[in-house]
Amino acid sequence: MTPSAPSLPFRDKGLANTVAAETQMSFIDGAKGVLEYVGIDIDSLARQSTFEETVFLLWNRRLPKAAELQAFCASVRSEYEVDARVHDIVRALPRSTPPMHALRTLVSCLAHFDREADENSPEANRRKALRLLAKTPTLIAMFDRHRKGKPFIAPDRSIGIAENFLWMLNGARPTEAMSRALDICLVLHADHGLNASTFAARVTVATLSDMYSAITTAVGTLKGPLHGGANQEVMEMLLEIGDISKVDDYIMGKLSRKELVMGFGHRVYKAYDPRAGFLKTFAKQVATDTGNITLYDMSRRIEEIMAREVSAKGIYPNVDFYSATTYYSLGLDLDLFTCIFAMSRVGGWAGHCIEQLEANRLIRPQADYVGPHGVKYVAIAQR
Ligand SMILES: CC(C)(COP(=O)(O)OP(=O)(O)OC[C@H]1O[C@@H](n2cnc3c(N)ncnc32)[C@H](O)[C@@H]1OP(=O)(O)O)[C@@H](O)C(=O)NCCC(=O)NCCS
Repeated sequence: MTPSAPSLPFRDKGLANTVAAETQMSFIDGAKGVLEYVGIDIDSLARQSTFEETVFLLWNRRLPKAAELQAFCASVRSEYEVDARVHDIVRALPRSTPPMHALRTLVSCLAHFDREADENSPEANRRKALRLLAKTPTLIAMFDRHRKGKPFIAPDRSIGIAENFLWMLNGARPTEAMSRALDICLVLHADHGLNASTFAARVTVATLSDMYSAITTAVGTLKGPLHGGANQEVMEMLLEIGDISKVDDYIMGKLSRKELVMGFGHRVYKAYDPRAGFLKTFAKQVATDTGNITLYDMSRRIEEIMAREVSAKGIYPNVDFYSATTYYSLGLDLDLFTCIFAMSRVGGWAGHCIEQLEANRLIRPQADYVGPHGVKYVAIAQR
């Protein structure tokens, strides 16, 4: 007999119309193109804050006083180093491994060297959040040095996250403008509501697993081209087009084949992504300063065509579109772009884990079974 289907509450494929958590971290109005962290608009933060201050804001839901910020930065810097055994694990990875695969493994392996890995008290989780924030850039830089056959560069505790990352990556002191450019990108990417990777982190931590598992889950989720992987694909597209004279044919060809143009569209924003709005002006300045204005001009032309062809559908540039040229202008390898996104979003992920555990409930939606019923089991010899 066919069992009657249980009455399911509500079908929402993609969960676009489901509110699965409360947050005090970021507010998004997709129709108006607004993003705020703890009530402060993203433009003000990008212009005036730093990544460390932004993370303090997200984790404490208020801006720090000067002494608090200084203490927070000192705590982060004291956690830059990773256990010597992690060095061996980095060296054991194939040099050909894509950096996001390496990052997923390395974030996970940090748990082995943290005695508090399974300690779920709020205090322990804040300490682990800090460690993850501080060590993720070190892991990315170490893996990049390893794959290029270069020696590791020890982190410098006297400088902030963005500057220290560029130092560990290149073994050369970045200019102030380069550090600031990266710092701004980190501020812009730090949190964004219940995006796919943040949701994944909250699902994991809601089982009362641990923060390392949650951030590992989040890294794996961010990797997809429909999420954090888009910035790399934007840059690959720009390099493939190669010249501004080829932009029109390329984009029109893609649209006529119903292919996606990476760096456009957003599940939540149906107006201009405010992060892209800020980065558009900023990317121009960085591209001009670094001799990459041709790439910027190509981006502008793509935006013009997309505005003409698809803006009626609510498709505008997203944060990945102009961050791609910014990262490229900073001399960063294309396949590190998503890792840098992860390095920033650790701030948001960890904050959401803390928030989830403050009022935890297991996250467990239902699936609508659409397969057959009453099928007879056939012994293996008879199949
Ligand atoms: C982000 C994204 C997954 C959002 O998807 P979504 O909310 O499900 O949007 P939809 O698929 O409903 O898109 C609505 C319409 O716009 C079109 N569209 C969406 N994004 C597009 C893009 N990047 N290029 C061209 N057309 C696009 C869809 O084909 C669809 O057209 P249709 O109504 O004629 O079928 C999607 O826009 C996308 O894949 N973008 C490219 C990847 C990217 O940049 N991701 C980073 C996000 S920060």
